[in-house]
Amino acid sequence: PFRIAILASGRGSNVAALLAARERGELPVEFVLVASDKPAAGALQLAQLAGVPTVVLDPRDYAERRDYDFALFERIAASKPDLLVLAGFMRIIDGDALQPWAGRMINIHPSLLPKYRGLHTHRRALKAGDAEHGASVHYVTAELDGGPVIAQAPLSIEAGDDENTLAARLLPLEHQLLPAVVALIAAGRLALDENGVSLDGERLRHPLRW
Ligand code: GAR
Repeated sequence: PFRIAILASGRGSNVAALLAARERGELPVEFVLVASDKPAAGALQLAQLAGVPTVVLDPRDYAERRDYDFALFERIAASKPDLLVLAGFMRIIDGDALQPWAGRMINIHPSLLPKYRGLHTHRRALKAGDAEHGASVHYVTAELDGGPVIAQAPLSIEAGDDENTLAARLLPLEHQLLPAVVALIAAGRLALDENGVSLDGERLRHPLRW
């Protein structure tokens, strides 16, 4: 089966969504590793409960950021994944460490990219007075949150929304979006090459809407 490794720093609700999609038979893949930079990440516990191998590498144990990134990716490579999924991984990764994974690594980001790369996306969408917010899944490149976008889940911003209400309405959309994109990749239907993203061999001109 198609082999997936996940990197996660946080509570792991997107990891849970991926595991649940497989449990329901909607995602015919094997989760070979959940890796984290945070020993206390909820994502690790969820993986362990599901019988998925885990590894934690603590950045505090490494003198240089680059050393950490290469050590982490060496561990990941050892599990021989076909695809690497960043599901709430909150570190910027060295471009040289990413290079071997070009076209085989995706990230979920809580904004309608190219808007609001980086942190505090809900706050920034509210402050800008946007009518629409959302989440994106994109291929990872050396440019932070800047790789080609595959699919987006839009969400309207309502009067009275704050960061918490927006995040709470967006999260369930993320939980559908990420497994759906992973399923397309595992089925061999999505690819990234020098011309951009293609679906079923056709160049994707706009992100898929979920
Ligand atoms: C998700 O909202 C994800 O989109 C975001 O972190 C959250 C992780 O939640 N990712 C980023 O901000 C990436 N820069 P989770 O741990 O419950 O999956």
